[in-house]
Amino acid sequence: MPTQGEERWVEDGNNMERLLEEKGYETDLQYAEDVVENQLAQIENMITRGADILIIASIDGEALSGILEQAEILDIPVISYDRLIMNSEHVSYYATFDNYGVGELQGEYIVDALGLEDGEGPFNIELFGGSPDDNNAYFFWDGAMDVLTPYIDNGQLVVQSNQTDFNQAAILRFDGEVAQTRMDNILTAHYSNENLDAILSPYDGISLGAISSLQSQGYGTENRPLPIITGQDAFVATARSIENGEQTQTIFKDTRLLAERAANMTESLIEGKEPEVNDTESYDNNAKVVPSYLIDPVSVDKDNLEEELIESGYIDRDAIE
Ligand code: BGC
Repeated sequence: MPTQGEERWVEDGNNMERLLEEKGYETDLQYAEDVVENQLAQIENMITRGADILIIASIDGEALSGILEQAEILDIPVISYDRLIMNSEHVSYYATFDNYGVGELQGEYIVDALGLEDGEGPFNIELFGGSPDDNNAYFFWDGAMDVLTPYIDNGQLVVQSNQTDFNQAAILRFDGEVAQTRMDNILTAHYSNENLDAILSPYDGISLGAISSLQSQGYGTENRPLPIITGQDAFVATARSIENGEQTQTIFKDTRLLAERAANMTESLIEGKEPEVNDTESYDNNAKVVPSYLIDPVSVDKDNLEEELIESGYIDRDAIE
């Protein structure tokens, strides 16, 4: 797993370990704290110690093709977990969410919240992208921008900073502090006489960083409410933020389902069966189209938070309060 510094990967790891152990397998769960070299060393070590299957959520999807050659020589199947490992033929299967769908849900949320289909506007929006070394980030961006671009083109949405390319909006390693600084800079340079109405954010850590910046510049009061702001991963802190009327929306990706998927894929591979997939077209890693299983993401705001996050047992009510 990439890092323990992010809630979701801790849940992913714990759930997978539990499910795999219930199936009778031995597991070795390692976190690389977002350092690519750590992850390479961990994988190498696992191969040396005789792993039968590798399940990898990469930090930098472009950095693992060399190490996967070693796995290939030893016939160790590799399941790409959540993020696609690029440039390697030796990615056997991919278990993930519908990443383009994540972006679409974020974009559609903004369209609905601002009433753009009814012709409302113009509104000011600023755009954040995910990490450029994560293939998912391009899918999130494309899904959202395919929804938002027509409204930017017709003037209902205005990006005062003019930063409308992924490369201008991307935040390396999804770092919330970097996002906060970018938001500070944009507000100072472009919003002294303008009000910001919406923010496309691909990830709760980025959203929380942007919200801190906005609050430090006077947003979040009755006269100057926070903009509509999207997110992803349903952090506990985000659930609290949504209930407090700060962040508007998040994308809930039930990591319990993803862990189950990866554990079932593992079982099939060990038993010599074909793992179940539902997409054999979307995920080309530049070496092959990787057979994938995509799980549906769910958009959550204050109206369905209780049902989706609390009643489903994903987050404890106590943790939020
Ligand atoms: C994952 C997201 C996560 C992000 C930051 C992406 O690859 O799909 O769930 O928010 O990485 O870790």
